[in-house]
Amino acid sequence: MSTVGWRRTHACGELRARDVGSEVTLMGWVARTRDHGGLIFVDLRDRAGIVQVVCDPARSSAAYEVARGLRSEFVVAVRGTVAARSEETRNPALPTGDVEVVAREMELLAASRPLPFVLDEADEVSEALRLRYRYLDFRRPAVRDRFLLRHRIVKAVRDFLDAEGFVEIETPILTRSTPEGARDYLVPSRVHPGRFYALPQSPQLFKQILMVGGFERYYQIARCFRDEDLRADRQPEFTQIDLEMSFVDPEEIFSVVEGMLAAAFGAAGRSVPTPFPRLSYEEATTRYGTDRPDLRFGLEITDVSEAAARSEFRVFRDALEREGVVRALRVPEGERLSRSHLDALPEIVAPFGAKGVAWARVQSPSVWQSPIAKYLTDAEKEDIARRCDLSPGDVVLFVAGPREVAREATGQLRLHLGRLLGLVDEKKLAFLWVTDFPLFEYSREEKRIVSVNHPFTAPRPEDIPRLESDPLGVRALAYDVVLNGTELGGGSLRIHDPALQTKIFELLGLSEVQARRQFGFLLDALSYGAPPHGGIALGLDRLVMLASGAESLRDVIAFPKTQRAVCPLTDAPSEVAEEQLRELGLRVVLPKP
Ligand code: AMO
Repeated sequence: MSTVGWRRTHACGELRARDVGSEVTLMGWVARTRDHGGLIFVDLRDRAGIVQVVCDPARSSAAYEVARGLRSEFVVAVRGTVAARSEETRNPALPTGDVEVVAREMELLAASRPLPFVLDEADEVSEALRLRYRYLDFRRPAVRDRFLLRHRIVKAVRDFLDAEGFVEIETPILTRSTPEGARDYLVPSRVHPGRFYALPQSPQLFKQILMVGGFERYYQIARCFRDEDLRADRQPEFTQIDLEMSFVDPEEIFSVVEGMLAAAFGAAGRSVPTPFPRLSYEEATTRYGTDRPDLRFGLEITDVSEAAARSEFRVFRDALEREGVVRALRVPEGERLSRSHLDALPEIVAPFGAKGVAWARVQSPSVWQSPIAKYLTDAEKEDIARRCDLSPGDVVLFVAGPREVAREATGQLRLHLGRLLGLVDEKKLAFLWVTDFPLFEYSREEKRIVSVNHPFTAPRPEDIPRLESDPLGVRALAYDVVLNGTELGGGSLRIHDPALQTKIFELLGLSEVQARRQFGFLLDALSYGAPPHGGIALGLDRLVMLASGAESLRDVIAFPKTQRAVCPLTDAPSEVAEEQLRELGLRVVLPKP
């Protein structure tokens, strides 16, 4: 049961015809055994793949005896000779299928209990069961390959950034909270009862302070923690490729990130066309109804408020009288949309607050087959047709309502129709930069303006004079990199002037005293010669998910949490001993059920 005196000479999966005649020592797991009346075939698997081992009692009765006792997932060591398989026993489906290893010695290294699921059929079992036994899940080649790919991507990113002069520096995990918009995970301090560390939501402030310290180019493969509602593309604990540069303008950051993404996707065998197209936030939300448009397909949205302003159609008029908008989505080859497709569209937009979807089949600019045709004059139809570039055969869809509602609803319609009509080219990588985000937005929950990004984001210099008079109209030097409709990363140039930073805090409702208490260390740092700086963070998990074609972040995180933020393997979070709580000066008060 031990490997003392044994040393592996080859990996199972690497043996080929060129190795015929070699003496080899292999170690691995039993994928399967077959007893062919007198001969036992063992499919032996290690990280590199599977090879067939033959145990013939005529050659080694000891090895044969060990093989008789093997079951799936037992761990063995084998010594033997590589032999060519005969023509009729070759297995072209296996990279090692031209050869087999004739066993001379076999040692059982570990037995295995019967498995909770058959590895080859794991796609049929629940994800919860696979995560509970993640170590068994990892033994499946498709799962293992995703982590090998993740490793290669991280290596490519490190190599690229290293060559570009970036220095990897670690920042603390036990720290103060950084406001990135989510709740913090708190860690109580034993030494300072009643005080708490926060786990970082990102290394934002540390990386800025590293710039003040003169490192000029920093990066980190950084673990971040955010206590937020989970979705398929969010985990409470995730990894960022985090970088920051001094003396830069956004163009330089874009070109570094494009090069880095080309290297990262290159490691996954995919080529990335650069430079990426750019859209301003305003343009992206107007034309695609979202700040993270999926550009793998067309279908554009047009604002037709002006053309609809005097129409007889009450829904349009009501929306416009209340300072809303009318948005139109042109769908070419409209005949592919049946009446029942059209009738189902209101359900798509309802969750986003839209009251309905009007439609028209366009026969000519002024001849529409549509329930609303009678409310529009020929001139109005022609005006809309011109603005939306409508052609005969198109279907045009309309959503009227408050600006944000109409924006989001048409964006969702676009995604729905892209999928429904099969317009999404799954093989395509459609990257883009979305620039000029607004600096602030109004939070209805908090009844005040909040940062769209984080409070350290620099406003566009030409908008600074309007900070007080029109804060919601101020644009930020902030950008996102988007891939196939997913926000892959976001960053900005930062405020490096302590007076401007104090002003932004003030606009966000932080008094000077509060700002000093919370961010005094940053304001101090900025007052000792802070270079202009900026950077970005990309979600590594999202990047690997998209590069590997995985469907969920859980597929590319070794030990992920479930939708309920639980680790199925260790069952974290767990209760702790009374003694631990006492030491920390904590008492648990559970909410009433
Ligand atoms: P931001 O909050 O946009 O920016 O985060 C950057 C990127 O991190 C990824 N991400 C996540 N991935 C998985 N699970 C999550 N819960 C999660 N939250 C975010 C996304 C996102 O685009 N400090 C700034 C960056 C900067 O300004 O340089 C920041 O953290 O891919």
